[in-house]
Amino acid sequence: MNLTSHRTKSLRGEVDCPGDKSVSQRIVIIGSLLNCDMHINGFLNAQDPISTVNALNSIGASILISGNEVILKKREVIFKHPEQELNLGNSGTGSRLLLGLVSGLGLRSTITGDSSLLKRPMSRVIQPLKMMGAKLNSKNGMLPVSTLGSKIVNNFEYEMPIASAQVKSCLLLAALSSKKNIKITEPKTTRDHTERMIEFFGGDIVYGNNQNSRLIQLNHSKLEPKHSFEIPGDFSSAAFIIVAAIISKGSEILIKNVGLNESRKGLLEILLLMGANLEIKNQRMVSNEFVGDIYVRSSELRGIDVPDNIIPNIIDEIPILSIAACFAEGKTVIKNAAELRVKESDRLHAISEGMKKLRIKHDIFEDGISIFGKSSQLQSDEPIDSFDDHRIAMSFLVAGIRSHNCIRVTNCKNIETSFPNFEHIMNKLGMKIDEEN
Ligand code: S3P
Repeated sequence: MNLTSHRTKSLRGEVDCPGDKSVSQRIVIIGSLLNCDMHINGFLNAQDPISTVNALNSIGASILISGNEVILKKREVIFKHPEQELNLGNSGTGSRLLLGLVSGLGLRSTITGDSSLLKRPMSRVIQPLKMMGAKLNSKNGMLPVSTLGSKIVNNFEYEMPIASAQVKSCLLLAALSSKKNIKITEPKTTRDHTERMIEFFGGDIVYGNNQNSRLIQLNHSKLEPKHSFEIPGDFSSAAFIIVAAIISKGSEILIKNVGLNESRKGLLEILLLMGANLEIKNQRMVSNEFVGDIYVRSSELRGIDVPDNIIPNIIDEIPILSIAACFAEGKTVIKNAAELRVKESDRLHAISEGMKKLRIKHDIFEDGISIFGKSSQLQSDEPIDSFDDHRIAMSFLVAGIRSHNCIRVTNCKNIETSFPNFEHIMNKLGMKIDEEN
């Protein structure tokens, strides 16, 4: 599916932020482990969380999705070996977290995914899971991966070589589901939704800090079931709306109910450093996560050197930050972001290819990109390829606001993995995105 985004003047209005993808996936997994009746509100009814729910139902969970609500049912048979492969589609989070869960439960299963997921590295979770005592098979450190039904035998200590919330969460879930203790050190703080959720249900998590790293220790204890859970809005989806309002002229918008977890909202800090007009209102806490409303107005930005330590906290926002940088005065430099090479696409390559088409001056490195901003309109004669990556597609569609005429983006179907009503929400605010005939 190809989309065209036409030049737009200002964006105005109020929108509700779509549910958080990371939290939606975690609550159905942890909720299934709790095995109680639970009502979940604010669920992201999008392809990635749906794949995770389907996989959980195949191992015996009882989860029913109805719009943005989810009903989890207590069941008699707690978990079972699935009869078919567990297909996690495009979801890196779903596949890695499920690998932790099924290993911890000692299930025999095969986890697979779509052509993009089959190319993503899995040895980052296979290796530590094997060290915990799980038996797994994979031909080349990628999916499909089979879990052979052996139990996790050891309490475990692990120093993560890369900063990855998916790896951390996979291991925490393996420990949780096998009733073991675990101590993990992460080189930089990554999103901590799994820890916060375990704490919400009464689990025992202890944190420690070394000089540059963070220690997370989960001590085995019984979690307490609760009958309802609220999912906050997804900051990563809000990021597209925020940048769209910033780069268009005369805009004023309010995004309601956005998750403002410290480990997710790094883009706000960066945009404030760049000179953005942003305000947070109505801050509160729901289900152990910070949320608030974000008020955004058009802004003149200046380029900055993005600090290294914030990279894991803006990792999914770098494509849309790159679009903001195109309209900032001077140079924006992003380094230490090699993880972008192994996301749904090689995002550094995808950003650079799009920028070439828009004639934006930039330099690409192995672990980052520097972008020279220009305030004039973007010229684009040829369509931009999203490389089947939802965040690349949405980023270049947002750039269409400041195009001479319009920007066409090809292969946009994967937007449905994280933000199915993107086109509708953006058009409601004043953008003009339409499907190519
Ligand atoms: C996620 C963690 C991040 C992020 C992904 C979602 C999660 O991946 O890019 O979109 O929900 O844990 P890594 O942990 O691989 O950095």
